[in-house]
Amino acid sequence: MKEIGLEAIKAEFEKRFNSQPLLIKGCGRINIIGEHTDYNDGYVMPASIDKGIYFAISENGTTESHFYAANLGESYSFFIDDIKPCDLQWANYLMGIMDQLQKQNILLEGIDLVFGGDLPVGSGMSSSAALECGFALGLCSLFNLDMSRQELAQLAQKSSHEFLGIPCGIMDQFASLLGLKGQVIKLDCRSLNYEYIPIDLKDYDLLLVNSNISHDHVNGAYRDRVEECRKGVTILQQYNKDILSLRDVKMAMLDEHQAELGALIYKRCAYVVKETQRLKEAGNCLVGGQLERLGELLFETHDGLSKEYEVSCPELDFLVDFARNYEGVLGARLMGGGFGGCTINLIHQNIKKEFSKAITKAYYKERGIDTSIYEVEIADGTRVI
Ligand code: GLA
Repeated sequence: MKEIGLEAIKAEFEKRFNSQPLLIKGCGRINIIGEHTDYNDGYVMPASIDKGIYFAISENGTTESHFYAANLGESYSFFIDDIKPCDLQWANYLMGIMDQLQKQNILLEGIDLVFGGDLPVGSGMSSSAALECGFALGLCSLFNLDMSRQELAQLAQKSSHEFLGIPCGIMDQFASLLGLKGQVIKLDCRSLNYEYIPIDLKDYDLLLVNSNISHDHVNGAYRDRVEECRKGVTILQQYNKDILSLRDVKMAMLDEHQAELGALIYKRCAYVVKETQRLKEAGNCLVGGQLERLGELLFETHDGLSKEYEVSCPELDFLVDFARNYEGVLGARLMGGGFGGCTINLIHQNIKKEFSKAITKAYYKERGIDTSIYEVEIADGTRVI
């Protein structure tokens, strides 16, 4: 993917629409730990990053909208009283936001939009949330809508559910909109209470290694996992009606009902329950500076995602195993929904260069694919520029 900067997006807008746009940056996110816990009402620990999508946007006084995706060179136009899903997924993420606003009786007018950036699609850094949240904030500013960032995150999540048919949790949208420079968000996905934890990794850094793989069944498998967790909850509720989600379940309870749950559902639920425990410990490690233990927890999460939750793939397992055997890497795991995208690595600053070279070479030898390596900068989230 070619990377596009703010100036180029603005210039493209002026060329196409001959007017001055509002400029927005929609941000991607990383997640330290707490994967597939958000839709189980658990906790997550994401942060917004400097990589993102720039938007040049303006209302056009008509009932027709014109979108241009600069990275892809694709455009899409539609009338705002005829918003429905189309073949272009990026356009659906945008139209879904307009659809939600219309459902709240917020009358819009036609929008001219050019967008593009440096956030690779399918990388596990949530380009979809950057797209939804940047656009939502843009519309909010253009039409002076009185909505908080939290409300916008909820609106974007609902749009994913209803317009895209993806039953995602709230982590990505929340992190994109509420992230702050140098801070990790510890978010309770049930109450939406959250706290910021300043990130201090001493001599260590976070490095992302992109497998540059994106398997087709990502969304289907995601839906299956959501459904499998629900099945587990339905079974356990027969014994304790206070259980509303896997958040409320302990390992002892899973073990007690293992036979009834069956091997598959037991495995899925066990992953989520253990991941919740890991996240609590990881939060303390981050605060107390116990980075070695934090690293171990990352490896444990990867093993759970790979063997119990089964959302990894050979490429990601290879990258994590390589990191596991590399002196100076404290921890690594797949990040995001799985089946491709990036691994997140907790790595000593001194070895970043040599590690990047070595893993790129080894990965190419093993799978015939190049990696892309990104240094992470935890930056303020989605904002008007
Ligand atoms: C995707 C979803 C999130 C979350 C992660 C897995 O990124 O959009 O809501 O479930 O997968 O942690």
